[in-house]
Amino acid sequence: MRKNCANQPCHFMRIGSLTLTNNLFLAPMAGISDLPFRQITKAFGAGLVFSEMISANGLVFDGRRTRALLRSSAQEQPLAVQLFGSDPDILARAAALVEDDGALLDINMGCPVKKVVRGGAGSALLREPTRAAAILRAVRRVTARPLTVKIRSGWDGVSLNFLEIGRIAQEEGADAVTLHPRTRAEGFTGKARWEHIRELKAQLRIPVIGSGDLFQAADVHTMRQLTSCDAVMVARGSYGNPWLLRDSLAATTAPQPPVPAERMAVALEHLELHLEHFGAHRTLGEMRKHLCWYSRGLSGAASYRARINAATSVEALREATRAFFLAES
Ligand SMILES: Cc1cc2nc3c(=O)[nH]c(=O)nc-3n(C[C@H](O)[C@H](O)[C@H](O)COP(=O)(O)O)c2cc1C
Repeated sequence: MRKNCANQPCHFMRIGSLTLTNNLFLAPMAGISDLPFRQITKAFGAGLVFSEMISANGLVFDGRRTRALLRSSAQEQPLAVQLFGSDPDILARAAALVEDDGALLDINMGCPVKKVVRGGAGSALLREPTRAAAILRAVRRVTARPLTVKIRSGWDGVSLNFLEIGRIAQEEGADAVTLHPRTRAEGFTGKARWEHIRELKAQLRIPVIGSGDLFQAADVHTMRQLTSCDAVMVARGSYGNPWLLRDSLAATTAPQPPVPAERMAVALEHLELHLEHFGAHRTLGEMRKHLCWYSRGLSGAASYRARINAATSVEALREATRAFFLAES
């Protein structure tokens, strides 16, 4: 029988009442982890995919537009829905509203973005442990879904309090904690301090999910080994590179990079999924960055990027993509 053992390659795991086929997740990423992107990474093996962060205020006061972020498909299940907000009652109301939209509910207590922090949400909550506790308590009361929280190491270098927030999360009934071990002040600079993940894991009984600087399969293996975390969450490393998930799930330590024809097939599939869900206007605006990421490292990538950025129709994106990857094959 398979065991839930941290230092082994990916394996099934439980978060609360939810059983997952493996412990390699796609991180919540605003502007990135939309439905088409999640479908692609799911097809490459992600055990759990997270929505973009969704405003609790938006859900409660401005339903329709915010609810669009909750669009999902059967194929990507189980979906984790991430909410952000600062008011315990509003977060609880939003949690009740999304009860049927996801298999797991995650609360964002790590976002460093100014606009979010100014509203008292995201990483601002790291400075308010009492409010953070009240939020988790209020949400726990209204949902039977597995409940998780995603945090950073602290507000800044002199207020590292991930152990305190982790303990609070556990006491208030959270089923897992994800740690991106940088402070709010650090943003994305410097190196993620994986030793914080190890410390948190050593302290908590509930599962700890590690995030931060996972760009290659070897990083995933090393984070598991160094921290004994229960699961890992890939983020920027998955840009144009869903193969990171496949390679991290494989036992091999020397994965083969995808050939250009394979990259083309996935890039075009991503494009078509995007078009299907969001229509031509948004696809033209939003797929450019993804297509450029799929071309990274190939010799003609610079001129492909220029063509993609100058394209004025989805058909032009398709044409440029086919021409580029076929020439690289
Ligand atoms: C563009 C972008 C958007 C992000 N959006 C969110 C978000 O909505 N919610 C969240 O909890 N974290 C968000 N994050 C943080 C990631 O989930 C992850 O913790 C972080 O990028 C560290 O992992 P990495 O170094 O492997 O990228 C975002 C990161 C990026 C780069």
